[in-house]
Amino acid sequence: MSVQKLDRNIFQRLFGLCATRKPSRQEAWDASEGKITLDLKAVPELNSKGSAVRIDGKGVKVPVLVVHGDDGEYRAFQNRCTHGKRALDPVPGTNTIQCCSVGTSTFSYDGSLIEGPAKGPLTVYRVDQAGETLTITLK
Ligand code: FES
Repeated sequence: MSVQKLDRNIFQRLFGLCATRKPSRQEAWDASEGKITLDLKAVPELNSKGSAVRIDGKGVKVPVLVVHGDDGEYRAFQNRCTHGKRALDPVPGTNTIQCCSVGTSTFSYDGSLIEGPAKGPLTVYRVDQAGETLTITLK
């Protein structure tokens, strides 16, 4: 299986500049007691399949990537590549998550490594959806 690369230029790859942005409305999510709650109505960045936002701050110890998968399901990952801890992006239309760095380690939605220099799988967090609210349970 050949892995599709997200279209990024060499400088973005060298400096590890990910394509995924933080939610434009920071009040759209909150964190407490090991859980992140996110109001989908307030995060238009997650409207389309293959989209994502990155979550950090508000006491969250490790950054989190929230993905609206190509299959319509929401997923959450520790937003650190297991090679050099660079951030991750979804590759729309491929059911994969990819490191933003030059190595482009690529992972499946279950976190397993498909290709690249990463040392192991991604940490995948449990996501529960109730209506328009996502609850992500951090391990
Ligand atoms: S940091 Fe991800 S491939 Fe190197």
